[in-house]
Amino acid sequence: INFHSARFLKSAARLDQCPEDTGAEVAFAGRSNAGKSSALNTLTRQNKLARTSKTPGRTQLINFFVLNDPAFRIVDLPGYGFAKVSKETKKDWDYHLEQYLQERKSLQGLILLMDIRHPLTEFDQEMVEWAYESGLPCHILLTKADKLKFGAAKTQLLKVQKELTRHRELVTVQLFSSLKKQGIDELSELLSQWLVP
Ligand code: GTP
Ligand code: MG
Repeated sequence: INFHSARFLKSAARLDQCPEDTGAEVAFAGRSNAGKSSALNTLTRQNKLARTSKTPGRTQLINFFVLNDPAFRIVDLPGYGFAKVSKETKKDWDYHLEQYLQERKSLQGLILLMDIRHPLTEFDQEMVEWAYESGLPCHILLTKADKLKFGAAKTQLLKVQKELTRHRELVTVQLFSSLKKQGIDELSELLSQWLVP
């Protein structure tokens, strides 16, 4: 699969605005500011495909990107755990995000991003648990790996893997850095396995 070919398809605020639920897609999920949009740009080698920002809460809609094979899509989800929006807005997002995750038939797997310095927060664990129980494969990217020395990053990786032994088979973990372009091959390979129509 050629990820370089990705282009923006459409944004959706709700499930009924999403593109037709056919073919196969993978979604990038995770806490606000974890680096989802950046990882998507790194994977596709396009700096400006998904909008990134220093301010958490940048991505507020479900954004769909289509690959050269139009049956394949990548989805950039709004981050969760973002405190600066009103309770009402937050409830609204959570509801639509949940709807998307539960109802979307073409969803083949979840790429769950976590800042390597703060992995497996309560929300993250809920997400892993939910994916596991739904039988949806979940691949964790420990992002911003460049923020730690190599040894410390490896230690974090092993620690997270150990905490997830119960979920083996369905939940996998790798190091990733958009800044250093680290982990792209491993991610591309996995996505190619998931994206079968
Ligand atoms: P929301 O859309 O708000 O949920 O955030 P997001 O998860 O899409 O995060 P985004 O990609 O916008 O990145 C957030 C911040 O982290 C930006 O300032 C990025 O430059 C920075 N960032 C992302 N990836 C990396 C990385 O690999 N290394 C470092 N050092 N910084 C990164
Ligand atoms: Mg984003």
